Amino acid sequence: MSNGDVSQGRRRFLIGATSVVGGVGVVGAAVPFVASWNPSAKAEAAGAPVTANVSKLEPGQQMTVEWRGKPVWVVRRTPEMLENIEKLNDEVKDPESQEAAQPSYIEGIYRAVKEEYVVLVGICTHLGCSPKFRPEVAPADLGEDWLGGFYCACHGSRYDMSGRVYDAQPAPQNLEIPPYRFDDENTLTIGLDPEGAA
Ligand code: FES
Repeated sequence: MSNGDVSQGRRRFLIGATSVVGGVGVVGAAVPFVASWNPSAKAEAAGAPVTANVSKLEPGQQMTVEWRGKPVWVVRRTPEMLENIEKLNDEVKDPESQEAAQPSYIEGIYRAVKEEYVVLVGICTHLGCSPKFRPEVAPADLGEDWLGGFYCACHGSRYDMSGRVYDAQPAPQNLEIPPYRFDDENTLTIGLDPEGAA
């Protein structure tokens, strides 16, 4: 075997190795591509229920879960937050949520299966911006009357800690509530009713 042959063999090996690395890269990139071109798989994933563990959520905190491509908020409300909701009954457009998009088993001013936890679709009912969680009472930018809630910076809509929109806001309705249930004390499934229907 001459030196030329050895060098030839090594070059072939290097070319081969490069091709394998390239192949791995393509496979990795192809996964989302395939998913996006498979309508049934995509539809299934988009409609599937989502389970969230709320055990780490402290009173007063918010977490966001993605469900059907939408942000869904879970807020663990403090006793003070619940008291403030009641104080706002005369300030909000639809206190009992008669006009709101929400499941039939959600009733009353706390809009929740368990009063401590409110679950809301985090999309403003005006033009679809995502409001900000503003739990503080009377912050300088929102004014003395602010008792905590959600503020949409796009056109200034204000919602209380139940997602009820204040009077005279651009947003026409309270925030939407998705179907959801508690599977146990700390496990929430969004996309399933308490009876189990999707
Ligand atoms: S989109 Fe929220 S106020 Fe307009």
